[in-house]
Amino acid sequence: MTGGFVIAIDGPAGTGKSTVARRVAQALDAGYLDTGAMYRIVTLAVLKAAVDPTDDAAVAALLPQLDFDSPTNAGPQRHSLAGTEVGTDIRGPAVTLAVTPVSANPAVRAWLLDRQRLLARSGRMVVEGRDIGTVVVPDADLKVYLTADAEERARRRHRQNAALVGGPAGDAGADLAAVVTDLHRRDTKDASRTHAPLQAAADAVVVDSSELAVEETVARVLALAAERGIR
Ligand code: DC
Repeated sequence: MTGGFVIAIDGPAGTGKSTVARRVAQALDAGYLDTGAMYRIVTLAVLKAAVDPTDDAAVAALLPQLDFDSPTNAGPQRHSLAGTEVGTDIRGPAVTLAVTPVSANPAVRAWLLDRQRLLARSGRMVVEGRDIGTVVVPDADLKVYLTADAEERARRRHRQNAALVGGPAGDAGADLAAVVTDLHRRDTKDASRTHAPLQAAADAVVVDSSELAVEETVARVLALAAERGIR
């Protein structure tokens, strides 16, 4: 396949989804869309406007004024809100907490959906999220649902958080416990919400990365892509 394609990569937090999706995109010389970042940017705008993230109507009222970039390059991405770079802010704990109600808001999902579909259909694309295979691109050329056991996901996310704040990746027990609690909170809420819950599409290939190194997971996804004529 040399024309456009869409590879959908869904799954819960901490599975290594972003790293895998980005590397798959690089290997295929394709674009990469991080839909979680879009929900995070909307959430940051909500917090900056001092709007209650659980107030669906007030959050919906902000949407028409939002101005943000949705990069699709497979290298380091620059996320900006109203022209200001927000790459670090959108990964912080305040956004991570508030993104759950914001991403469960049907008006937010509907508003982002058109933009996500347009970008997903823009050529050779790897698209990462929770509902890509089920809602955003139900006819994707390949759907992967990436999982890993809860403890391993918490360890990975903990390492990632430590790297983000520039601290040591040590295993401070209390921090790790907090990460476990937060991942559990998000998984439960993401999977049980009414609109576009986190779930594997019926035709998704489930890849369990608990025992796999990143390169092995990437190789597995590339092999699945090749089986479908994507190379
Ligand atoms: O992948 P992430 O952790 O950056 O995503 C942030 C939040 O956005 C996550 O808690 C669930 C939500 N999300 C979603 O509801 N649908 C998507 N397609 C992507 C993310």
